[in-house]
Amino acid sequence: MSKLVIVSGLKPTGELHIGNYLGMLKQAAELQNSGKYDCFYFIADYHSLTVKYKPEEKKREILNMAVDILAAGIDSEKSTFFLQSAVPEHANLAWIFNTITSVGELERMVEYKEKISGGETPNVGLFDYPVLMAADILLYKGEFVPAGEDQLQHLELTRTIVRTFNKRFGKIFKEPRGILAKIPRVMSLDDPTKKMSKTLPKGCLYLSDSPQIIRRKIQSAVTDSYKNIVYDFEKRPAISNLILIYSEFSGIPIPDAVEKFKSANYADFKKDLAEVVIKALKPIQEKREKIAADEDKVLKILSKGAKKAEVVARQTMDQVKEKVGLL
Ligand code: TRP
Repeated sequence: MSKLVIVSGLKPTGELHIGNYLGMLKQAAELQNSGKYDCFYFIADYHSLTVKYKPEEKKREILNMAVDILAAGIDSEKSTFFLQSAVPEHANLAWIFNTITSVGELERMVEYKEKISGGETPNVGLFDYPVLMAADILLYKGEFVPAGEDQLQHLELTRTIVRTFNKRFGKIFKEPRGILAKIPRVMSLDDPTKKMSKTLPKGCLYLSDSPQIIRRKIQSAVTDSYKNIVYDFEKRPAISNLILIYSEFSGIPIPDAVEKFKSANYADFKKDLAEVVIKALKPIQEKREKIAADEDKVLKILSKGAKKAEVVARQTMDQVKEKVGLL
């Protein structure tokens, strides 16, 4: 029996932090390692062109992202790992989907509206972003899509596209479902009301941070004026965020972690937390260094992945062309 198909894309957005890792990559690697799925993971480089960027920095950003993803455990022997732009069928299928997607549907997309109000140019690519995403998924007949909470609306559009396509041209697609990471969001160490992000550098732990930097950032993480350690994101967001990070990196379930530190003070807990993070990131950092030292190999991995993806992509595109009436 063939395996269930998982598809997910990661936008190259500069250096990865533990929020990206825990929110998505860790789970993507676990799904891959379970051996139960046929995983397609790609770098959504076409998507990344829809917001302001510096062309002279793009290539570096994409390559760094590839290195980070491999270091975080995506294995090109187990998953099909490639660049979106290397498989032209992504754009081809997006075009077909454009013809069955209504403008009104896209106008409702929250991410689009937020980006525009945040000052992005309302270019057609940005508007059409969710249609390309639908093509990304359906090209491989994806059934499960690991994604962040903010992508659920786009996934809903993918499902609408499936229904419209199947009804009009014949059933060839299934409606994919999202898989949310156990941790949809890690908050900033600096401000537990904001998502961890490179725009708040002091509260952001990068996968590449040295032990000294990790200790410093965790020591200066905000807490609260209570003294005990509890897990309650509503009432005690700062300390809960730290417990969550502790639990994820140590593998100790949250209630056990709370129990373990029930008579510890914040300073002691933070010391332990820093060491747990340092220890968990060390193998990733070592692997990263090795991979980064051989860029040719990374390029080869990506092109091999694209060839594998291409075989499936072509089959789907042929099927689609046949259904919609193209030669
Ligand atoms: N839009 C996704 C994000 O911002 C990235 C992405 C592009 C994606 N294509 C996809 C995710 C297909 C899942 C499936 O994170």
